[in-house]
Order: sequence, then C-alpha cells, then structure tokens
Amino acid sequence: MTRPLIGTSWKMNLTPTEAAAWFAAACPDLAVLTDRDLFVLPPFTAIPAARAALASTDVAWGAQDVHPDDRGAHTGDVSAPMLADLGCSIVEVGHSERRRDHREGDRLVAAKVAAIRRWSMTPLLCVGERTRGPLADAGPRISRQLLGALGGLDGPALDGVVVAYEPVWAIGVGAQAAPLDHIAAAHGLIRRWLRRRGATATRVLYGGSVDVDNAGPIAGLPGVDGLFVGRAALDPAVFVRIAGVTIDREDRP
Ligand code: PGA
Repeated sequence: MTRPLIGTSWKMNLTPTEAAAWFAAACPDLAVLTDRDLFVLPPFTAIPAARAALASTDVAWGAQDVHPDDRGAHTGDVSAPMLADLGCSIVEVGHSERRRDHREGDRLVAAKVAAIRRWSMTPLLCVGERTRGPLADAGPRISRQLLGALGGLDGPALDGVVVAYEPVWAIGVGAQAAPLDHIAAAHGLIRRWLRRRGATATRVLYGGSVDVDNAGPIAGLPGVDGLFVGRAALDPAVFVRIAGVTIDREDRP
C-alpha cells in the first residue's frame, strides 16, 4: 500500500519573509507526521526559505513550474537544474492556471516533465476537466491530458510521476470540492489509464477546494493517494490539520 502524499502549492502567495513565518509555525507539527509524505511548493522566490526550514525534516519542497530547457535566452524563466540545485524534489506542471494564464498546452507540459525527470526530480502533473458535468464528458479530456504529458513514458517511469486530479470548476475562491463519487470515478479512470501503460505505483492526488472538513473523506476514497491543497494551506495551522488528517483506508484496494 502506498504512503499517503499530502502537499500544497501556495500559488502566487507569501513573500520570502511570510514564508519563513509559515515554516516556523508549521514545521514542528509537520515533523511528527511520519506515516505520510508531505511537500510544499512555494513561489520560486521562497524556495530558499523552504530549503532553510525543511532541510532537517522529512517534508519535501519544490516548485510550481519549470522551463523545459536547462539554460539559455529565456528571460524570466527558471530551469530544472536551478531547482535541483535548491534541493527541490518535486515540480508541478500543467496546472489549469498556467494553462489559462500562459496558454500552456500538453506538448509543452510533456517537455517540462522530461526536464524534471532529467534532473531526477518528481513531476507532479495536474489534469482535470474545465466544466462541471458527468465523468463521461470529462473522461476524454483527462485521458488526452495524460496522453499528451505522459504518453512517452513506460511503466517504471510513470511510477515516478505524481498525478493530481484537479477539476477546474472545483478550484479557487467560491468553488467547492468535487463530490466524492465524482472524485472516486475520476481517480478510477486515471488509475486504469496508468495501469494499461504498466504503472503500478503512481500516486494520484485530489486537488480543488480541499479543506479541514473534506480532507479526511476525500483522502479515504479508493484510488485517492493523497491531497493537493491550495488556498486553505496559506494558514499554516490549517495545513497542519489537513496534513495530519485521519485517513480511513479500510476500503482501499
Ligand atoms: P484551491 O486550489 O485549494 O485553492 O482550490 C487547488 C489547486 O489549484 O491545486
């Protein structure tokens, strides 16, 4: 049985100074959660603060994006070797806000996945449908995103990737997490896609309006290996509670 994986992306929130305060508040409580894996993805500017605070813990840190090239004339971008040098072990790609704000498509996301793997870090690929509706409608889009970003990888390589199912309609202020049956069905679809390609250990997280109340029920669903938390985690005390949530995995496969 895989260990639960629970993490947060702060998106474009928290200055380096605020990040240091967040870590000072959260680290003592996160350090004792030894039955699960945890990670924090701050903005690029706060990654050194993450390294300073987390290097002596088992909590991993990483980044929310990366350029596919290792170096070169790409003003404002950040490369995989730069992130690896800062001790990042997990790098997010394909988030719907990057697809929306920067028009990122699956081919670019696939190139980013390759860059992350070249530098021995873990890609965290976000997939999810844009509009609320039955999974029958969402399925083809999710499969297309998986194929576009991960289609070139074999089973063992896929095992080294984390997938986050993030229905776009369930993300952000004013939204609510997807219903449990929808999450379970989507995770089943993603897991079948991965298994067909020989993956046996890829962890599949749920993200989208995760909070203290829904974290336990979602994390206990069959096929859900953990949680990816956005705005709720900006309060360190709330992230500590979500990270430490009781997970009833009795009915897990
Ligand atoms: P949210 O963000 O928790 O603020 O909805 C989730 C995400 O985008 O991963």
